[in-house]
Formats: sequence, structure tokens, C-alpha cells
Amino acid sequence: MIASTPPMGWNSWNTFGPNIDENLILETADALVETGLRDAGYRYLVVDDVWMAPERKNGLLVPDPERFSMGIGPLVQEVHDRGLLFGIYSSAGTHTCEDLPASYGFEQVDADTFAEWEVDFLKYDFCHTAAGADPVALYRRMGQALRATGRDILYSICEWGANQPWEWASSVGAHMWRTTEDIVDSWESVSRLGFELQTDLHPYAGPGHWNDPDMLVVGMHGKGHVGRTGLTDAEYRSHFALWCLLASPLMIGCDVRSMDDATRHLLLDESLIAINQDPLGRQGYRASSHGHTHGETWAKALADGSWAVGIFNRTERPGEFLTVGWELFGLKVDTAATVHNLSTGRIDHGVVASFGTRVDSHDVHVLRITPERT
Ligand code: GLA
Repeated sequence: MIASTPPMGWNSWNTFGPNIDENLILETADALVETGLRDAGYRYLVVDDVWMAPERKNGLLVPDPERFSMGIGPLVQEVHDRGLLFGIYSSAGTHTCEDLPASYGFEQVDADTFAEWEVDFLKYDFCHTAAGADPVALYRRMGQALRATGRDILYSICEWGANQPWEWASSVGAHMWRTTEDIVDSWESVSRLGFELQTDLHPYAGPGHWNDPDMLVVGMHGKGHVGRTGLTDAEYRSHFALWCLLASPLMIGCDVRSMDDATRHLLLDESLIAINQDPLGRQGYRASSHGHTHGETWAKALADGSWAVGIFNRTERPGEFLTVGWELFGLKVDTAATVHNLSTGRIDHGVVASFGTRVDSHDVHVLRITPERT
């Protein structure tokens, strides 16, 4: 099955925007391997907008001849040779968001081109569609075209959550769908997209079909096309933990050739990745909230019967004492549980009713709570 767990990889857009070329892609591929990110699961290397030449050639999309002089097929082979998968980008309209040729009216031709290049992933945008165009019909067209190629191509759709895609995207063949506008490298954006806009979306996600609150900004530190001032390390930790609990696709958006230690450490956190990639495929939900003035708890059921629980301090107050009660995720209050605090490494056995911990401002503690057998 394609995307039986949330897709993981890297996408060029957040940091590089239109400034992409084959050297960047090859250096990024090498960095994904050398840093261990590939082996941690980040396998899709996705080239976003602005890879194509300004005009079609003989009716076909072709890459920019200067920036991608080797051609996409050979570039895909290089990426495959490094044990990675290759993703590409187009739009359901006549042009991409950066005004380059896109796939409206050329769906099968373009899907065949991508398949011939041995592409493994298509991100399909919604710019330059006709006013009043039916998004479901447009996305179904490309979904059918991809299927008709006979190649396994992960289909990632991007209409910014404008038409409730969670209700229809999987029926047009999509494996993930954006639920939000574009993320930017600020705590306000991460909070809005991650905490606010994901409310109530958990029933729609599952193996093969995922809500997508957009790419990670972890480690960008304000360096990027859409960059703002960046987040603090605590805020990046909350962002990554929340995307893991949301069973969101984990598409890295920073420059992986030059990550600082905190970024590398966070993106390679095996215990958080295991929560994201848990085979049960449940998306976490907000189990409790005291509003912006306090903390909030997000909970995700895991295949082994345990719960992943994120306790977030969204206040400005340092060291806020926040508790989580068993009733929030349906455990009887007298159930004894082992609480593994993944953020501190501490393990407590025989905990009943609730667990409390001090969490710094804009930071998170992620717990793995496992009911003990009696
Ligand atoms: C849209 C998408 C972004 C990115 C750009 C590229 O804004 O939402 O993720 O792909 O287009 O132009």
C-alpha cells in the first residue's frame, strides 16, 4: 500500500522557493543519506515549483535547460541510486503558482511523462484553475491519469484545505491532502495550522490517506523563501511533536546540508518518529484544552495499546505544572500505567489517575502511557 504510514521526506519549497537546481537536489540527496535522515524514514525527495521550462516542448513538460541540464529522468536515477524516492510538482490549473506551465488539459500526458521518468510522488497544486472550477473533478482527473500509468505514484494534493478535501480527497486517489494555507517559519503560523486548523480532522486520516498541515519549518531559523524570524528550539520541539501526534506527513523544509545539532537531533528523534509512523495509523486529537492561556493535551492511540500524549504549554509562563488525567483517553482512573516521559527520559511505573509535569513556555513533554497488565 502506498503511504500505509504518513509519508516522510524533504521538499525544496520552504527554504529555496524558486532557487532550485540539480546540484542542490543531488547535494540534498547526499545529505539525507549522510545525516541518517534517509535511514530514519525520510525517503521522498520532492522538487517543488519552478523546475520546469517556461514553455512545453512538443506538448510535453520539460525541465529548465540550465538549472536541470541533465534532465529529470537521469536526476531521478541519481536520487534512486542513493536509496531515495523522487517527488515532483505540478498544478491542476493551466499554470503553477509561479506562472510556469502546469497540467490542466494535459493530465494523462504529464502523468505518463512523470511515470517515464520513474517519479514516485506528485504534489498537485491548485493555482491558475478557472474560476468556479470543480476541484473534485480536477483532482479526480489527475488521480485517474496517475493510476492509468500503472506506476505507484504517491498523490499529494494541495488546494490549501479550501474545499474540505478531507471529505473527498481519498476517493479521487489522493494519499495526502493539505488542510491549510502555506506554513511560514513563525510560532503564530505553526500554532494556527497545527493546533487550531486540525481540530476535528482526526476521523479522516488513516493508512493510505492523511491530513497534511503542510511541511515542517523545523531548523529553518528564519532562512527561507517564506521565512520569518524563525522559532525557538522549544517551539520547534512543539511543532515536531505535534506533527508526529497528528500523524502528519513529515516533509522537512530546512536546508539539510547545514543543520545545527538541535535540528538534527529533533528530526532524528526515533521515539517521536515511532509515534508518527505507528502502524495503527490514528491521528491524534485534542484531548483537553484550557485555551490559549494554559496548556493543552493531544492524544494518539498506538498499535500496542499504549497512548502517545503531548502536553503543550502555550502560555508565556515558564515551568507551568500541567497534568493529564486518564479519563481524557478513556482509561479507568484506577488503571495502573507506566509513564515514559520521552522528553526527559524518566519512566514511572504504577501511575494511577493522572500524571503531571512542569513544561516550559511554548515547549512540550511527550509521554508514552502504557496500561500495566494486572
Ligand atoms: C503553493 C503551495 C506551496 C508551494 C507553492 C509553489 O503556494 O501551497 O506549498 O508549492 O505553491 O509555488
